[in-house]
Amino acid sequence: MTLPRFLLLSASFAVLAACSRGGETEGETTYIEDDASSTEPGEEAEAVWRAATADDAADKFTYANYNEVRVTHVDLDLNVDFDAKVISGAATLDFEREKTGADTLVLDANDLSIEMVEAHVGGDWLTAGYTMGPDDDVLGSRFAITLPQGADQVRVTYATSPDAEGIQWLSPEQTAGNEHPYLFTQLQAIHARTMIPLQDTPAVRITYDAHITTPPQLLAVMSARQDEDGDRDGDYSFRMSQPIPSYLLALAIGDIEFKAISDRMGVYAEDYILDASAKEFEDTPKMEEAIEALYGPYRWGRYDQIVLPPSFPFGGMENPRLSFMTPTLIAGDKSLTNVVAHELAHSWSGNLVTNSTWRDAWLNEGFTSYVENRTMEALYGEERATMERSLDKKSLMEDVAAAARPELTALKMPADLGHPDDAFSDVSYAGGMFFLKFLETRFGRDTFDAFLKDYFDHFAFQSITTEDFLAYFEDNLWADHPDAVSQAEINAWVYEPGFPDTIEDPQSDAFDKVTAQMNAWLGGGDVDGLVTGAWTTHEWLHFIRTLPENISVDQMAALDERFSLSTAQNAEIANVWYQTSIKAGYEPAFEPLDAFLMQVGRGKFIYPLYQTLVDNGRREWASAVYERARPRYHPIAQRRIDAIFAG
Ligand code: BES
Ligand code: ZN
Repeated sequence: MTLPRFLLLSASFAVLAACSRGGETEGETTYIEDDASSTEPGEEAEAVWRAATADDAADKFTYANYNEVRVTHVDLDLNVDFDAKVISGAATLDFEREKTGADTLVLDANDLSIEMVEAHVGGDWLTAGYTMGPDDDVLGSRFAITLPQGADQVRVTYATSPDAEGIQWLSPEQTAGNEHPYLFTQLQAIHARTMIPLQDTPAVRITYDAHITTPPQLLAVMSARQDEDGDRDGDYSFRMSQPIPSYLLALAIGDIEFKAISDRMGVYAEDYILDASAKEFEDTPKMEEAIEALYGPYRWGRYDQIVLPPSFPFGGMENPRLSFMTPTLIAGDKSLTNVVAHELAHSWSGNLVTNSTWRDAWLNEGFTSYVENRTMEALYGEERATMERSLDKKSLMEDVAAAARPELTALKMPADLGHPDDAFSDVSYAGGMFFLKFLETRFGRDTFDAFLKDYFDHFAFQSITTEDFLAYFEDNLWADHPDAVSQAEINAWVYEPGFPDTIEDPQSDAFDKVTAQMNAWLGGGDVDGLVTGAWTTHEWLHFIRTLPENISVDQMAALDERFSLSTAQNAEIANVWYQTSIKAGYEPAFEPLDAFLMQVGRGKFIYPLYQTLVDNGRREWASAVYERARPRYHPIAQRRIDAIFAG
């Protein structure tokens, strides 16, 4: 296939922008011929083509006709029924006609039962006609509402399904407190439509208000300004007055408590982990200061974090004003708080400036991984930041080598991306970070920092494509330093599979010393010769991850006896140890691994663990564990692991 190539002509971006209103428009391919004079000196004068299509900028994972009618505000009035596992009530949507005379509002819906659809016309609510299309496995249904002339709002009265993929309902036994049920949503990438009928695409930004009723003993929190009266009474109101993409809407309800970290920050959690969480995350205010110093003010008011039950399928989720976090971060020594830096960083990269399609996910995750690493460097020094990049590089290279298709190893994801999830591999995260690191090196840190600061400001509260970024980069950085990088280099990083050898090779002295110790041990030394007393979590991760593939069961046993790795309390260390144990056939790790899989639902750990078990002749054992663990896992995790066993 012909890969898209980045073209230096600004004209091409004008065409892309003109085509950028996606939705239902049929993609018409317009080829723009390269102007030979735009070729960088020293480059072959071969024709460079960029296929500029309406499809390129359109989000394929929505039915919404946002190029014709665009939702601007959502007002929710919902009741949460824990017995029925149903959220029901009304969603009132404000919209603007992008095309005069547009008479249909197309929304996304997935497994919603619609009771009534009304349109607001001249002060009255009138019943409105609608159609609900067939249920696509990935996309859900096209929900098209007929707009009477002059309608300025629609109101949908509806209920969610107990199996909604974006909502996890936990029984009291699945919480630490054991007394009350719990609920949390996870709407990225395309699960908002399982909770609310809306235009579920990052290309559309909405403000929202919500009135949520719950059992009175429970507290509800959202990615918004929290309920103001502060009473725990089952009646909560929220407002998000800054425009956000639908995937950043979020709700959690449970027997949760709050502890302040500063006057603008705090932590919500179940009581058992509240103090430990506030302690673990106590550096968050300093992280914010560091990011603000680099990239400008935090624009969202408060910043709180909620530590969810262990079934939360991610490390963290950057819901605005209220990041959702896995309890596996609470290691006691702040060794895993790069995830805090990461979710906070999304307040700039991702939430302020958002990928407008999932093909551009690296704009969210790559930029965020870069800002995260800069934040870790600012707070804890270069050594730690370098160690983290070194571990990331190793994961990236493994990911690239294992990729299902080469097209999935370029930053810009292919037009035929099968599922948004496929855009969230290490390619987008570490790959995007290393691309920005490359640019930082070439343009110089000060220049690049200033550029990024302006970029966040320029595109604040907008959703953009990779090409929008490149055009801005071209005009505001590259034009002033034309020799810093070549067009071919940019192309290779963004559009071509794999990573060019201009990628940084992070050099950590600390890791080199660990490697030297490991080699001495493997060369016949005694395990007591390993001087690990001062090793940080990162050095342990490096050590375990670089153990030779043919490590013997006896060697594994020697390490385990000496360092109790099978019962490591740090989830990252336990995870890599179990990975190595499965591959090495080290049986004593299987019982603690069973316990780990029963307890932890974080996808980063459990998907690869199940996959490695299946790949290493342990399918039966794994499937027995999964049978017990599955009811505890989030629907997102269930779907992913079902696929591992089906494959
Ligand atoms: N936004 C992601 C989580 C996500 C990605 C949810 C795709 C749904 C679909 C979040 O910011 C994230 O990247 N979390 C990482 C942590 C990070 C330090 C790599 C995670 O969950 O591990
Ligand atoms: Zn992220």
